[in-house]
Amino acid sequence: MRWSHLLLGLLLAFYAKADPNATSAESSSESSREEKTDELLEEENVLVLHEKNFDNALKTFKYLLVEFYAPWCGHCKELAPNYIKAAETLKEQAPEVRLAKVDATEEKELSDEFGVSGYPTLRFFVNGNRTGHIEYGGRRDAEGIVRWMLRRMEPASVEVKTVSAAEEFIKSHESTVIGFFKDPEDADLNLFNEVALNTEDFKFAIAHKEEIFRKFGVSTDSVIYFKSPEEKYIYTGNEELGFDKDELVQFLMVNNMDIVTEYSDETAQKIFAAKIPNHLLLFINKTVEDQLLLLENFRQTAPDFKGTVLFVVIDSNGPHAGVLEYFGLTNEDIPTIRFINIEKVTKFAFNAEKITAETVRAFCQGVLDGKIKQNLLSEEVPEDWDKKPVKVLVGKNFEEVAYDETKNVFVEFLTVVSCMQMIEYTKNRTVELFSQFIDSGGVLPVDEDEEKMKADQEEDIKVEDVSSEKSKDEL
Ligand SMILES: *[C@@H]1O[C@H](CO)[C@@H](O)[C@H](O)[C@H]1NC(C)=O
Ligand SMILES: *[C@@H]1O[C@H](CO)[C@@H](O)[C@H](O)[C@H]1NC(C)=O
Ligand SMILES: *[C@@H]1O[C@H](CO)[C@@H](O)[C@H](O)[C@H]1NC(C)=O
Ligand SMILES: *[C@@H]1O[C@H](CO)[C@@H](O)[C@H](O)[C@H]1NC(C)=O
Repeated sequence: MRWSHLLLGLLLAFYAKADPNATSAESSSESSREEKTDELLEEENVLVLHEKNFDNALKTFKYLLVEFYAPWCGHCKELAPNYIKAAETLKEQAPEVRLAKVDATEEKELSDEFGVSGYPTLRFFVNGNRTGHIEYGGRRDAEGIVRWMLRRMEPASVEVKTVSAAEEFIKSHESTVIGFFKDPEDADLNLFNEVALNTEDFKFAIAHKEEIFRKFGVSTDSVIYFKSPEEKYIYTGNEELGFDKDELVQFLMVNNMDIVTEYSDETAQKIFAAKIPNHLLLFINKTVEDQLLLLENFRQTAPDFKGTVLFVVIDSNGPHAGVLEYFGLTNEDIPTIRFINIEKVTKFAFNAEKITAETVRAFCQGVLDGKIKQNLLSEEVPEDWDKKPVKVLVGKNFEEVAYDETKNVFVEFLTVVSCMQMIEYTKNRTVELFSQFIDSGGVLPVDEDEEKMKADQEEDIKVEDVSSEKSKDEL
């Protein structure tokens, strides 16, 4: 559940500076380094790569996906079983495709070469081109990885040359997309094909012929998404700038989703792939008739915010009731609504007594306009929070831990899909400053008296821009 990482913000982790070895994974011993050759070895069908055999792997496999991971990274551990399963499937289905992994904490040179700054980072290589790698843009479950890799082996789109071929194409699949480009050499075609390769839920075609433009009622270069042969949506981009990749992806995702999405394993992928940072979540117990009726009120408001806020419903009586916990909610709080911005990691509690179309609209607009104050939520302190070298911090215990003046506090920010570096919190430990630090995603608060010292300190403190890294990784 990906909100979980965000909501609390921040499953925070810290360790005492006095014991720097406590969290570092078994570091490579000199002897194992020496044993490395260009031989390709596998662990559970995943190639284990390092600087010595990396080139060999590139030469041997036409399509190679490489995961750069850190042994301590929770998201990497989550990915591992899916990655192994995908590796096994692909090895059987397509011998020229292989999945590989690199321990980025050991292979500093490789991770520098490929600009690895968060974990896991997945890079895709074709035809052994070491410099022309691209970022993995698919889902992180086994099926998603397999589909993304197989998709990379086909042409991104097919050309429909006649009106009847276009009509056939639209009928042949559930979700189809036709790119209309007058000029077969148009620069936006590359962008269109790149999007096509990364959004596997759709089938893509291109059309250049005037008669096809006419038939579908477009006069300029456009993209039409056919949710069904009858229901279509048109994207025309910007008159001067042409198409925008993120905009096109968002256009497809938003129109592909229902106006209100019920949260499930499957829809979670779409929710997070839509790249819309604002989510409005309705929590109801679907077996209660009165609460089901609220869904209708929620649904009425959704079209007003299409493209700006995703409307999601969570059944407190269903398999994803765990989401409640991450919002600090219990069954007694249901029905209720929460707003979260997953980029800024800000969350807002519903402020009206009744859930009506009007109160939902007012709340949603109020948050967007910055008129509603965010609230700091917390879950209960996990029982084993201090049993391991890396402590888990939640709102309720962070004061106690963060204010322990005998230790320096390192906060590890876990974002939606990747683990970031640790950031040392060195400032005055007041609740305000510390929560500011957390909500900002790791920007150390500026202390007026300490402005002068700041310059010196900046050299030692590495602040990662969590939000930009996240958006880059998320597609
Ligand atoms: C950490 O590990 C290094 C080498 O493995 C060792 O030299 C050092 O003494 C250790 N430090 C502590 C505080 O245990
Ligand atoms: C590798 O990819 C880069 C970037 O796409 C490209 O400029 C270069 O020509 C490619 N090299 C080969 C050998 O194909
Ligand atoms: C949902 O409502 C039903 C019917 O009133 C009740 O039996 C069930 O315990 C409720 N579930 C939760 C999680 O509150
Ligand atoms: C931290 O801030 C508080 C309140 O502004 C102040 O009273 C206290 O002296 C500060 N402590 C340190 C170590 O700067």
